[in-house]
Amino acid sequence: MSMPRLPLPSRDGPAGTRRWYQHAVFYEVLLRGFYDSNNDGIGDIRGLHEKLDYLQWLGVDAIWLLPFYPSPMRDGGYDISDFFNVAPDYGTLTDLSRLLDDAHRRGIRVVSDLVMNHTSDTHPWFIESRSSRDNPKSDWYVWNDDDQRWPEARVVFTDVERSNWTWDETREQYYWHRFFSHQPDLNYENPEVADTMVDMVKFWLELGFDGFRLDAAPYLFQRDGTAGEHLPETHDFIKRIRKEIESNYPGRVLLAEANGWPADVADYFGDGDECHLCFHFPLMPRLFMAVRKEQRYPITEILSQTPEIPDGCQWAIFLRNHDELTLEQVTDEERDYLISEYAKDDRMKRHMGIGRRLAPLLDGNRRLAELLYSMVLSLPGSPVIYYGDELLMGDNIYLGDRDSVRTPMQWSPDRNGGFSKADFAQLYLPPVMDPVYGSDAVNVEAQCRNPGSFLHWLRGMLIQRRAMPVLGVGTMEPTACPNPSILAYVRSGEVADAPVGSSPWGTMRPIGEGFGGGTFGRPPAPPSVVPVAAGEQDLAGQRTQAVLCVHNLSRFAQPAELSLPRWSGYTPVEVLGRVPFPVISDEPYTIALGPYGYLWFELVREPPFPEEVIG
Ligand code: BGC
Repeated sequence: MSMPRLPLPSRDGPAGTRRWYQHAVFYEVLLRGFYDSNNDGIGDIRGLHEKLDYLQWLGVDAIWLLPFYPSPMRDGGYDISDFFNVAPDYGTLTDLSRLLDDAHRRGIRVVSDLVMNHTSDTHPWFIESRSSRDNPKSDWYVWNDDDQRWPEARVVFTDVERSNWTWDETREQYYWHRFFSHQPDLNYENPEVADTMVDMVKFWLELGFDGFRLDAAPYLFQRDGTAGEHLPETHDFIKRIRKEIESNYPGRVLLAEANGWPADVADYFGDGDECHLCFHFPLMPRLFMAVRKEQRYPITEILSQTPEIPDGCQWAIFLRNHDELTLEQVTDEERDYLISEYAKDDRMKRHMGIGRRLAPLLDGNRRLAELLYSMVLSLPGSPVIYYGDELLMGDNIYLGDRDSVRTPMQWSPDRNGGFSKADFAQLYLPPVMDPVYGSDAVNVEAQCRNPGSFLHWLRGMLIQRRAMPVLGVGTMEPTACPNPSILAYVRSGEVADAPVGSSPWGTMRPIGEGFGGGTFGRPPAPPSVVPVAAGEQDLAGQRTQAVLCVHNLSRFAQPAELSLPRWSGYTPVEVLGRVPFPVISDEPYTIALGPYGYLWFELVREPPFPEEVIG
């Protein structure tokens, strides 16, 4: 902690450093599963540090670090027994500080998981609180004489817990918990608790974190006659944290994990004075539904119910994460449909959802994976990639709870997938070893050496995305199309002008060392031309950028007759090849897309000269 703080290189994009998150691609890291530097079978901070080269090469802007605090690990580390420390298995505070400094040096930000709602039942606060009814911490948790209070509050893990109350033999009272019974909820009505949690926030911000993912944000307070979610008191407490950030740590961010309907979740943005980002949970299962139904409606309907959000705010959108593919925000009928399509084996079901990774959910269909990523990278929001999904890693449905999707990162075809040199039996979880997704077949080293791999494809898309800042902040205008299998929209808005051939975030250095040597490859060149974009160039170095994104949700080739009257006279330039397509007129604009095809076009007033396209 005595290490000097390094200024963060500017990767701020057009809206200024403080709004970096509106342009960022996040990468979710399970520390335990990423890379084991000391060969004890458990991934650690130094391991992640060693792999920063890889993440920089991949082109992510921010890491979301899952809980690394001391914990008995009965809920993947979300059961914390000390909020002010690092679990010894992962390293030390100094290791963490070094990681943050090096990440910052590379222009990568790091957001940590902040579990404020509850602690482990092994936390000293709880041990003290349960010891009697009159100890100094007696009111740090939520106690009651009976288990009948707040019957409206739903049980989250319905397959494991029957009630949100559990009897404690010592204190002879019930304690309240929204998740597992070994995770008692803290009592935010007690000012000492609220103040201590604010101190905890400051502690990690001082260490250098760039913000927090607020775990289980909706549940901090309870109120009679309510479901105990999204209460005004909870919003007030989050606003208090935001105020602290604005006053003393500008540029750091809050990302809410609030699994709810878009209108409820949008409340976590406040009036731009609460969270900077919120996960868009309901969109995620609907992406999976749309590609199975081969129809855009599940997506367009949820987007039409998504409210405008305050200036400076952003959705976080994702395909998969460390939890089950949650089906809480769908109707019973939709849930049955998704289960029947994506969880054909009962072992795939977890809590109220499906415990599988992206690739197996899609039956290993790469085109479909590209299509889904194309949407996540171009719909309004900041994309969040789950570690291993850039390789299309598999899962292990024979492991319990959500461990099915938390197996070791597959770095190479070596022992333990290159994750650790520990004995196999010592590993925190076995690596995936099946012939389809095992580390022999799916690993970073092989995909780095193969320019046609999914990893290279995704990296190329991230580079494209950087060249189109409008995907971070632009408006989204749905494009009418009679074919229900086609989802098309135009993202447009003002962006900072970029010099020809450069990215507004600066250059990325080629990476060679550490994983596959020179075979790791140079980054592909940025687009050779920044064409004259749609709209006027204004004096402040701003210009309007417009990107048309077209997706075919069907497994068969489809025609797309797009209605684009507003863009009549513009030329769509396909972004990967910079190939100009025919000029848009007042008539429907017809293109054909292959099975699960997608195309992104920059809409330009003047087509680029042919030699620039070739150049
Ligand atoms: C986390 C889960 C965890 C739960 C309880 C969630 O929202 O994502 O992994 O089990 O919080 O802390």
